[in-house]
Amino acid sequence: MTVSELKKQFFDTLRNIYPKEEAGSFFTILAEEFLDMSRLEIALYPEKVLTPGQLQQFTDAQERLQQHEPVQYITGRTHFFGLEFGVNKNVLIPRPETEELVEWILNDLQEQKNKELEILDLGTGSGCIAISLAKNLPHTKVSAMDISSEALKVARENALKNEVQVDFLEQDILKTERLPKRYDVIVSNPPYVRELEKKEMQKNVLDFEPASALYVKDADPLLFYEKITALAAGALKPSGALYFEINQYLGKETEALLRKKDFLSSLKKDIFGVNRMLKGIKHEN
Ligand SMILES: C[S@@+](CC[C@H](N)C(=O)[O-])C[C@H]1O[C@@H](n2cnc3c(N)ncnc32)[C@H](O)[C@@H]1O
Repeated sequence: MTVSELKKQFFDTLRNIYPKEEAGSFFTILAEEFLDMSRLEIALYPEKVLTPGQLQQFTDAQERLQQHEPVQYITGRTHFFGLEFGVNKNVLIPRPETEELVEWILNDLQEQKNKELEILDLGTGSGCIAISLAKNLPHTKVSAMDISSEALKVARENALKNEVQVDFLEQDILKTERLPKRYDVIVSNPPYVRELEKKEMQKNVLDFEPASALYVKDADPLLFYEKITALAAGALKPSGALYFEINQYLGKETEALLRKKDFLSSLKKDIFGVNRMLKGIKHEN
């Protein structure tokens, strides 16, 4: 089979599942991954004949896309904040809105970036927040916690791949009574999607991404925020800051938790114009 025949078959198969532009971008990603051909090479060499191995790999990937599996799990990688991260079904695929959270922190730390800061990322998943911060703040000591040993395995490999040092801790946030050090910054993107919001979600998320990374009970949707705020109140250095990614529908309620613990708080909207981030500054006493 030639590249152009493969392309035609790919678009015919996925036509009823994905919009044309999305299918086109999947084709480019899979061609780079499994045929070792760039978008330009695809255009220049449509008559190139595929090896049986290439054809098999491509067809397997196509079948996984038909089942709505995210393309990042199929290739095993994604990009976040200009870095490459390995991902698998044990970790959430890093989201663009989380890049905005990292950007906010780095902007705030601009004037302190040559200092030896201490940062902690709670619920690190693929390690995307911790590793991006470590990469951009080379003098800073970054630690990261997750309950999942499988997620931490991925995060450790990502730290190696991106040549940064992060101290990973396997621990349940909800059962933690006290944090091990004092920090300048504590950041978290904890599970925050309520069961009732599942109906807004796409099949690729519902069927493939780890439930333990995403969902909380409708009756207690802010449990992670409450616990992390209490831990941060006891572990942030004077003027230290707590940063959260938050549920867009619960901005005011989440902010109220911070205020109750005497943090000065500010909400921030993401590029879609919804409340997506929250910062709390610890009062200096
Ligand atoms: C929304 S994901 C965020 C992952 C990553 N930080 C990101 O922004 O893409 C939440 C993470 O919290 C972890 N987690 C869930 N419950 C936890 C708990 N009780 N203690 C520690 N980590 C937990 C999950 O394993 C998951 O990796």
